[in-house]
Amino acid sequence: MAAVYKSTAFVGVFVFTFVTLCLFPLPVAGITRYYKFDIKLQNVARLCHAKSIVTVSGQFPGPCVMVREGNHLSVKVVNHVPNNITIHWHGVRQLRTGWADGPAYVTQCPIQKGQSYVYKFRIVGQRGTLFWHAHISWLRATVYGPLIILPRLGVPYPFPKPYKEVPIILDTEAIISQALQTGGGPNVSDAYTINGHPGPFYNCSAKDTFKLKVKPGKTYLLRLINAALNDQLFFGIANHTLTVVEADAVYVKPFETEAILLASGQTTNVLLKTKPTYPNASFFMAARPYVTGSATFNNSTVAGILENKLSPNSLPSSISVKNLSPFKPNLPALSNTSFVENFANKLRGLATVHSPASVPQNVDKQFLFTVGLETSQCWQNRTCQGPNGTKFAAAVNNVSFTTPTTALLQAHFFGKSHGVYKTDFPREPKIRFDYTGTPPDNTMVNNGTKLLVLPFNTNVELIMQDTSILGAESHPLHLHGYNFFVVGQGFGNFDPQKNPNNFNLIDPVERNTVGVPAGGWIVIRFVADNPGVWFMHCHIDAHQSWGLKMAWIVLDGDLPNQKLSPPADDLPMC
Ligand code: C2O
Repeated sequence: MAAVYKSTAFVGVFVFTFVTLCLFPLPVAGITRYYKFDIKLQNVARLCHAKSIVTVSGQFPGPCVMVREGNHLSVKVVNHVPNNITIHWHGVRQLRTGWADGPAYVTQCPIQKGQSYVYKFRIVGQRGTLFWHAHISWLRATVYGPLIILPRLGVPYPFPKPYKEVPIILDTEAIISQALQTGGGPNVSDAYTINGHPGPFYNCSAKDTFKLKVKPGKTYLLRLINAALNDQLFFGIANHTLTVVEADAVYVKPFETEAILLASGQTTNVLLKTKPTYPNASFFMAARPYVTGSATFNNSTVAGILENKLSPNSLPSSISVKNLSPFKPNLPALSNTSFVENFANKLRGLATVHSPASVPQNVDKQFLFTVGLETSQCWQNRTCQGPNGTKFAAAVNNVSFTTPTTALLQAHFFGKSHGVYKTDFPREPKIRFDYTGTPPDNTMVNNGTKLLVLPFNTNVELIMQDTSILGAESHPLHLHGYNFFVVGQGFGNFDPQKNPNNFNLIDPVERNTVGVPAGGWIVIRFVADNPGVWFMHCHIDAHQSWGLKMAWIVLDGDLPNQKLSPPADDLPMC
């Protein structure tokens, strides 16, 4: 059910230019890179209508932040709009700098109108593509941009040096406010976009198409980012295979594929080799959703165009200069779960038997989390549009997270947790049932601000099990402050006897966001070596707002360099 906004009157009064996203290569490798983000409203004309959106410095997508591994970053965020704001550096490990992580009421109170906050942190041991986005209510719909980490000067990529690098951000034009007021599902988005452009398949957008002009026979590095609020997306380019080389700012063993899957919050670098033999041909690059569960979705396709051009004077006379109409890519079907499973199996770290990954081989603490949609009581004297007049809710181990009114990290650091949070988050579900079979009769969630405490350097194993309570669905779980290794996954209920025999403890992929398979399970491992309070949540914003989130407290270690640093003076107050 496509819900492209239809209107006959195109309001084209606003002039809005899309800025060049990133400039490659980074000119200088300074020690600290400074940026200033002015949060302001900007009028835009999109998809046949005009609207005012919250932006960083009037740009959409927002400015490209580019650093080298080892650089410090200092980003001054000044809020000029009535909405409270915070910025999250999605995927940055934030070693001992949790105060700069960004999720509202988790690591900081929001930056209020007229106030500012400087995010200060260092990029350590990471290189590749990440992104930044607002982390409060639904503002990340328009407040986001690429975060590109180049390797240290003189350190090459573990793949042939690309001719050029291009960031490609996939997103949605979302309508969201209604869902939060009715307790129902979110409205489907207006359209998907590539680098902010909806492309030729939507109304009023033929001219609003992302075009990438390339030269024949060259290798390009595409830095793909899924910044969409609520969608997992397939991406591909007609008549081309892509070579995956990195995921979530960690290199992977290269493999070729026709299409890639990007869950919301995931990033992937691919090499694209342009055709030497198709001079002056155009190819669509396109994205459309991977759909699980029963939620309404927008099954439309966003397209951009790859223009393969020889320079006119190098054209052999026999070839026509006129552009052919673009070739279309063959993307996996909307619910092609076997493609998704296959793609997940191909993602492997660079490690080998002789130099295995640093994945914990032994586990100190094991947790089993059920994740999924459930229901909760409608507000008093209101009608709700969830199942049987309830309100949609989502939970981890049946606990739907209640956002506190003061920041958890402050409460933890200053020893003032009383009345803010409890540390009794369940290590496993209270009731056992066939998670992927018939749901229990009672599908109501419990509410609370519950956290789990981990001593410094704990080796954690976390099994995440999808439930089918309101339909099996793939949930992209994102952990702040950490990368984790994906050691196993499968369908049905996790079997603690059988499944661990097949865990990959040699070259598992390392990432910060992973899709729990629809009607299945996934097992991740990480070492709790970064003290602080770390949010973990479904990166589908609708599910997050329904409560599919929790937080970990990782305690300080004994050594001075194992302790959370104190906050700066400009840390916002609630
Ligand atoms: Cu990209 Cu907590 O999110």
